[in-house]
Amino acid sequence: MIPQQTIDEIKNRIDIVEVVGDFVSLKRKGQNMWACCPFHNEKTPSFSVSPAKGFYKCFGCGKAGDAIDFVMEVEKLNYAESLKYLAKKYGIEVKEEELTDDEAQQQSERESLYILLGAAKEYYENQLWETNEGRSIGLGYFKERKMSDAILKKFELGYSQDVWDGFMQHALKNGHTEEMLEKAGLIIVKAEKKYDRFRGRVIFPILNVSGRVVGFGARALKKDDKPKYINSPETVVYVKNQILYGLYQAKQAIRTAENCYLVEGYTDVTSLHEAGIENVVASSGTSLTEGQIKLIQRFSPTVTVLYDGDMAGIKASLRGIDMILEQGLNVRIVLLPEGEDPDSYSKKLGSESFKTFLNENSQDFIHFKTGLLAREASNDPIKKADSIKEIVASIGVIPDSIKRSVYLKEASGLLEIEEQVLVGELNKIIRNKAKKTKFQEDTHEEATQLQSLEQEVSWDPKEIIKYQEQESIRLLLEYAHVELDQETSLQTYLLNELEDVTFFSDIHTEILNKFREELAEGRTATVDYFVKFGRPEVRKAVIDIISQKHEVSPKWGNKYKIFIPSEKDKLHLEHSALTNVLRLKQRVVRKLLEDNIERLKSATSEEEQTEIQRIHAELKRTEAEIASQLGNVILK
Ligand code: UTP
Ligand code: MN
Repeated sequence: MIPQQTIDEIKNRIDIVEVVGDFVSLKRKGQNMWACCPFHNEKTPSFSVSPAKGFYKCFGCGKAGDAIDFVMEVEKLNYAESLKYLAKKYGIEVKEEELTDDEAQQQSERESLYILLGAAKEYYENQLWETNEGRSIGLGYFKERKMSDAILKKFELGYSQDVWDGFMQHALKNGHTEEMLEKAGLIIVKAEKKYDRFRGRVIFPILNVSGRVVGFGARALKKDDKPKYINSPETVVYVKNQILYGLYQAKQAIRTAENCYLVEGYTDVTSLHEAGIENVVASSGTSLTEGQIKLIQRFSPTVTVLYDGDMAGIKASLRGIDMILEQGLNVRIVLLPEGEDPDSYSKKLGSESFKTFLNENSQDFIHFKTGLLAREASNDPIKKADSIKEIVASIGVIPDSIKRSVYLKEASGLLEIEEQVLVGELNKIIRNKAKKTKFQEDTHEEATQLQSLEQEVSWDPKEIIKYQEQESIRLLLEYAHVELDQETSLQTYLLNELEDVTFFSDIHTEILNKFREELAEGRTATVDYFVKFGRPEVRKAVIDIISQKHEVSPKWGNKYKIFIPSEKDKLHLEHSALTNVLRLKQRVVRKLLEDNIERLKSATSEEEQTEIQRIHAELKRTEAEIASQLGNVILK
């Protein structure tokens, strides 16, 4: 259990922009910061962070919360684990109070795996620097490859001694279990035998975006030692298609450069850092996955692929390119001379010349593909036609239509083919694609538009009332303390006006009651209060309400006569508040009228009918009264 004092300290230190900024690249627009949502797939940003209010909200998928919620969601941690994560980030020491058995058990398996993997990393690192075998063999190997101490430390590289169960014994001694060792992929269990997975190799720890160890790559030290690399298997925390080697160390540089170099191997990453290029990640030998591309997309709009210039390298890059384009990223390509990889070539040229080489040889995918065409098919008309189709097909996967037309123009010039012909070809491809995937591939934006259209059709009166309630709550949340005159604050006024109104929504009622309670004590409930201390449902509702205004289309605001306080109404708060309450009451009365008429349909006795008619008349009178008041307010 984390002591309350520490929790408060953490909460006070949190800056949501810093916390979220570790996972996505935020851009300021107006009062908020925006990014593409890390929780769902989208191409234009609908994920917003409010620095002032301390919470995030995605207008696409609806996820919302404060910094702690964000960490829970993005890192799949529980509440206590998220607090620990944040404590670590802000250098706050967490002294845990004694755990009860239950709590200890609840410490999730993920967290135990992270702890074990972190311990393994430290063990291997220690072996490299502090043991004779590590220094002579491991460090010897790295030195031979001209890797500096600084880079070894930066990537936390290590060494595993050439014995069967060195790490296993160490871990068991420190209270880890065989079961967890196996789950972490650190030992192999075969029949009666259990032994370390990594033995007599140098170790590359693999980190996730937030810097926690999820696995290892272990390189053989001798040529005939096969395989060259032994890697951790997939585990609960190491989902291979979601991890890029080097991303943690690169993310800041990627953001600044707005470009991410993509290479194949561990040593390509470390060597580029050695050469002063830090915006680089590796797919680690597997072909690039959609998950990995999305990971890059969180930080950068452009990927520059660095591949070996032999045919295998080129083929590999071609497959990746369309996938990257499809995700809406820009792609550039640098082909290295045949037989060289980024590691070998950067060392051959030296830092400065290598940087120059990258800048001078990076080409966009159209130039790259037409270059291949010239190389492969210049004298073969059929091959040429195929290649042109292939180029147009690549353009066809780009989601942005403006980008598509720019590329088409460029391709037309380079291929010396009339643009119209290429446009025709492209349209054919797009039509085919549209046919196949019409509804599945609807972008999220379209989906939300559709949703709001549907809402217009099926909006029920209760929902409208709830919406109007929400507006009352919003007024309270935003302006409760504002003085309307010398004696009356907005909350006094509004709560008074709402005295005889019962809210439909339980959550709204709960929030309203909190305001009432606080006011009775002479205080004001605040957004901050609800966000920090509210039940999760209440917190979510408050955040939704506060951030939703911009989402409401004026069209249906008008259509349903929902009164939405606008910026300029801040000057006329009393007017806003009254209008809001009257609208709410009007809605409620109309709903009661409708319900009453329904009852009339099924009424059996004459008495019942008379009673219903009496209620009807009463409600009608109230409705008229409200309408006249509303008329007065609006005339004001
Ligand atoms: P490479 O064979 O190009 O190795 O494989 P490398 O990265 O250049 O390594 P060095 O420079 O020879 O030490 C590229 C990547 O493919 C994966 C590793 O992630 C490697 O970095 N790979 C390769 C494996 O996982 N297993 C292997 O046996 C070989
Ligand atoms: Mn290499």
